[in-house]
Amino acid sequence: MKITAIYPGTFDPITHGHSDIIRRAAKLFDEVILSIAINPGKEPLFSLEERQHLAEIVLKDLPNVRTCGFEGLLAEFAQQQNAQVIVRGLRAVSDFEYEFQLAGMNRTLIPDIETIFLTPAAQYTYISSSLVKEIAVLGGDVSEFVHPTVLAALKEKYS
Ligand code: COA
Repeated sequence: MKITAIYPGTFDPITHGHSDIIRRAAKLFDEVILSIAINPGKEPLFSLEERQHLAEIVLKDLPNVRTCGFEGLLAEFAQQQNAQVIVRGLRAVSDFEYEFQLAGMNRTLIPDIETIFLTPAAQYTYISSSLVKEIAVLGGDVSEFVHPTVLAALKEKYS
């Protein structure tokens, strides 16, 4: 049986932490869909098209990964994509409480979908997209945390 997983998030922008998780997921599942939430509540720096374009460049060497934008409920989107699994990354204990709630809610909405947690490599446990943007806007070097294309896109936004 083919197992499809979705890896949802805002990815504003995609970081090495995100790609570490998706690379691990790509080894476990037949197909992984990086699912980019429109998420107007977060007022993203990059448009959905820009976030998708950056993610496609970063993940282009992974044949079983594709990217897709979504609006509305994650559980419904997962069902539309015939996904059996939602992948989430756990960086620290502080992530757990929110993730536990999210997994419980999604299970209540669609009982057949399982949430699976993966942990990134130790050097990525403290990265977040907001911190990367904050450092970039203040002129700091974020080349350790993002792909060179994302670095160039951040420089262009903040130039
Ligand atoms: N490496 C680096 N950073 C990571 C990471 C990792 N492995 N995992 C998470 N992060 C960061 C993200 O970059 C993000 O940083 P930011 O807040 O600075 O941008 C932060 O951790 C939070 O990430 P996440 O929990 O994935 O939030 P999100 O906003 O990216 O995505 C959704 C949350 C999209 C999954 C959730 O809002 C959702 O499901 N929305 C759809 C609506 C819905 O169904 N709601 C009901 C839910 S029950």
